[in-house]
Amino acid sequence: MKKQVLTGIKPTGKVHLGNYIGAIKPALELAKNDEFEPSYFVADYHGLTKIHDRDEMKQLSRGIAATWLALGLDPEKAIFYRQSDVPEIFELSWILACFAPKGLMNRAHAYKSVVEDNGVAGRESDHSVNMGLFTYPILMAADILLFKSEVVPVGKDQIQHVEIARDIAESFNHTYGETFVLPTYFIREETSVIPGLDGRKMSKSYQNTIPLFEESKKLQKLINKIKTDSSSPHEPKDPDQSIIFSLYKEFASTAQIKEMREKFSTGIGWGEAKKELFKVMELALEEPRKRYIELMESPDELEEILLRGADKARSKTRPFLLEIKKKIGIM
Ligand code: ADP
Ligand code: TRP
Repeated sequence: MKKQVLTGIKPTGKVHLGNYIGAIKPALELAKNDEFEPSYFVADYHGLTKIHDRDEMKQLSRGIAATWLALGLDPEKAIFYRQSDVPEIFELSWILACFAPKGLMNRAHAYKSVVEDNGVAGRESDHSVNMGLFTYPILMAADILLFKSEVVPVGKDQIQHVEIARDIAESFNHTYGETFVLPTYFIREETSVIPGLDGRKMSKSYQNTIPLFEESKKLQKLINKIKTDSSSPHEPKDPDQSIIFSLYKEFASTAQIKEMREKFSTGIGWGEAKKELFKVMELALEEPRKRYIELMESPDELEEILLRGADKARSKTRPFLLEIKKKIGIM
């Protein structure tokens, strides 16, 4: 039997290079491997913890779906769906909530970091925390466990959430016997934290992102904004300490990477390095960007693909949820 691999992206902003390199690209690589059956989805109800504007939600949600497809995810091979179209996830989420110690949620980092920020700003500790944010890891556990996922490709900040899913699964299995598969996260260590324009982790929250499908001129401008040191063009540079090189590696061929590494060690101007980065990115992203724009202009086509995906997903989630309900004495 194929191993189940699953991941979701929440629609809370434009997909950026950190999301692509850290989460989407490794997931797409796994999807090409015949040993795995991929389930990839738009985590729109996770997005609702933050996005409270109808049009923005629609647009961002479509954006995530179009991104997966434009980058080559084949909806015939993968199970590709929108979270909100699979109601079993939400029913399971409640069941799992009854196995999730509150203390575990108190320690979850998304919630904890809001509490910490509130403390620094002198606000009441739970200011702006909704229960969706507080119970976020439970819904994520339901996403993962309902599909019997073994492998969950994510960026570094999501490791804790996968571990929470595992803890909840263990607690349920302990009470009712083997039911859930214990998931493990899959992380590409070298791309676990892609730096942004200012050198900090690239993140919507820091406004230091390069959107994946930015149009050429804007892309070039953003690349020019990447922070560099003041070394002169002839000075040798450490490629492994450079944001430009770490992005270059993700889009260039093996031969190009080798050549660029040598250029760094003998000396290359930052301006030239940025030009080379733009060239490889432009080449790699031109076609997906076109497809992305086409898909964004065809909401009906996207909708049809997602609904077909939800049907496929539900053919798995319906019987499994039934099994779970029988175990707990609800059916
Ligand atoms: P953001 O930090 O911009 O809000 P999300 O939290 O929506 O991004 O992240 C979506 C996925 O992309 C997650 O799996 C996350 O770990 C990954 N990711 C986000 N930013 C980066 C980054 N800078 N480097 C590597 N992976 C990242
Ligand atoms: N929490 C993830 C993020 O912020 C998105 C997500 C929701 C997810 N459900 C998931 C990722 C299940 C992996 C598996 O990026």
